[in-house]
Amino acid sequence: MRRKLIAGNWKMNGSKAQGLALVEALAAHCREAESTAAAFDLLVCPPFVLLPVIEERARRAKIAIGGQDCHPKEAGAHTGDISATMLADVGCSYVIVGHSERRQDHREDDALVQAKASAALAAGLKPIVCVGETQAERDAGQALSVIEKQVRNSLPAGAGSRVVIAYEPVWAIGTGLTATPQDVADVHAAIRAMLQSEAGEEAAAQTRILYGGSVKPSNAAELLALQDVDGALVGGASLKAEDFWAIACASVA
Ligand code: PGA
Repeated sequence: MRRKLIAGNWKMNGSKAQGLALVEALAAHCREAESTAAAFDLLVCPPFVLLPVIEERARRAKIAIGGQDCHPKEAGAHTGDISATMLADVGCSYVIVGHSERRQDHREDDALVQAKASAALAAGLKPIVCVGETQAERDAGQALSVIEKQVRNSLPAGAGSRVVIAYEPVWAIGTGLTATPQDVADVHAAIRAMLQSEAGEEAAAQTRILYGGSVKPSNAAELLALQDVDGALVGGASLKAEDFWAIACASVA
């Protein structure tokens, strides 16, 4: 059985006070609905500077914390970068790599994403490797081939089920548009089949594949009920404790 993972990607949002308030509100939900909270994994990925601010509150509430990116090297002369080792040191257990905003804004390619995911594994973190097609690629009928190429080239060899994959259609991120349940089901099934041939039955069966792209309380139950959807990577709606909690609860509805 794959436990559902509900991951919040705060992106470049939040002050110290807002971050703390958000985690405290989530922690209160976890306390009040202990048995519900025990049924899924909750993760928040704030901006780097807020990690130490929220770490203790999150840990006490059994909410995992993660980074939104990491450098492929462990340390060195890389001004402005943060290593996976540093993230582990401040209490992270996950890191998002290859998010489409980084692929676009920072021109990250699959090889770099793979190196980052490898660094994450070496530091004891679970990388959440993001893949997804653009609108133009979907319109051209290339969605599956683009995604398969990204999965093949972004996952570290031999990672087994230590990686999490997030399917995020680029055109659905922050737009309010979501892929249809059928499209999501098709892509997730294709990724699972790929994992079977590349990593073997067992690893494929254990690897969590998240959906991301305008997940909100109103569409979460339908998406999270799909057979190969093992959780959600939530951007905008993760900034409101009520919405993020409602999405998490929908995963076990
Ligand atoms: P969104 O972002 O939920 O705001 O669409 C998702 C993501 O980018 O991870």
